[in-house]
Amino acid sequence: MKRAYLTAIFILIIAVPYKILATEKSRITILATGGTIAGTAESASQASYIPGVISIDEIIASVPGLNNVAELNGIQVCNISSQNITPHIWLKLHTIIDSLFSNNLSDGIVITHGTDTMEETAYFLNLTVKHKRPIVLTGSMRPSSSLSADGPFNLFNAVSLASSTEASGKGVMVIMNDIILSADDVTKSHTVNTNAFSCPNFGPLGYMRDGKALFYRKVETKHTFNSEFNISKNTKLPQVEIAYSYAFSSGLLIKALINSGVEGIVIAGVGHGNYNREYAAEMERGYGKGIRFVRSARVFRGGVDKAAEEYEPKHPVSGIKSPQKARILLMLALTKSNDSNEIQRLFDQY
Ligand code: DGL
Repeated sequence: MKRAYLTAIFILIIAVPYKILATEKSRITILATGGTIAGTAESASQASYIPGVISIDEIIASVPGLNNVAELNGIQVCNISSQNITPHIWLKLHTIIDSLFSNNLSDGIVITHGTDTMEETAYFLNLTVKHKRPIVLTGSMRPSSSLSADGPFNLFNAVSLASSTEASGKGVMVIMNDIILSADDVTKSHTVNTNAFSCPNFGPLGYMRDGKALFYRKVETKHTFNSEFNISKNTKLPQVEIAYSYAFSSGLLIKALINSGVEGIVIAGVGHGNYNREYAAEMERGYGKGIRFVRSARVFRGGVDKAAEEYEPKHPVSGIKSPQKARILLMLALTKSNDSNEIQRLFDQY
């Protein structure tokens, strides 16, 4: 009796700490879509290259020891330059992620993506994937074949971030150049520099250091598990375009968009979302045809609120959303309603 009792105690002393210490690695699924991180060039120093060439397996292999960070599963969703991203790819990413999380097949998602439209894919998923588990996008500004390519370390950081317990419930994130960025504010703010991404209104969410996530702020807008958008049955998205404003911009572009039957138009206004009388006249005509407009701004900080100069109060304003993000939110808003007040409520909350 005494022996059995002592054995049980011994096992408890050994087993419990081991169980606690045994680091069960997170199951991270890497969805590859292409971009520069999958790009190659003829020489290790030249600036021009071809994006979307190498496979997800080759990208993972370029990060020695990545399998020690997490249990990895790579899926090649597509292999394109992100300027060619499509609604079909967005809906496919949404379906794959929702299925993996709903069936408990993954603890976190990393998406490797071209940097040109990374902020848009991130924001679309931020509004539509109704789960708390981490979703992290990353890419690179130099091709995989480059001298000191930035892709491998960005991928290491992305897998480490997606594996961290603190990343849950934070909304979709972008990690580039050690900086953790929120999907609602992140934007590409340099065309070629490796330090190309920023959150111009609220600053970074935090940083990755030594494979650990250091968070310094939270996202205040609604997202992911709190989102009211349900696109699980959508096979397409409403067509919404952007009309850029500038000195003596004619109404031609808006006129053409109205005549082409778009459902929504975002105005990238000058200053605090302002536009001229030619735009105002076409917007009035389009509104009467059921087209909905949102006032955003070509100025990339400060956003647009209701206080403004001469404008029509029935057009909702974008808040801090850039024109390219206001377009995504207007697409999703139009899947629910084309009432301007309801659209404004959504812009005030997301
Ligand atoms: N063609 C661009 C894209 O796929 C390359 C930029 C990049 O990935 O860094 O977004």
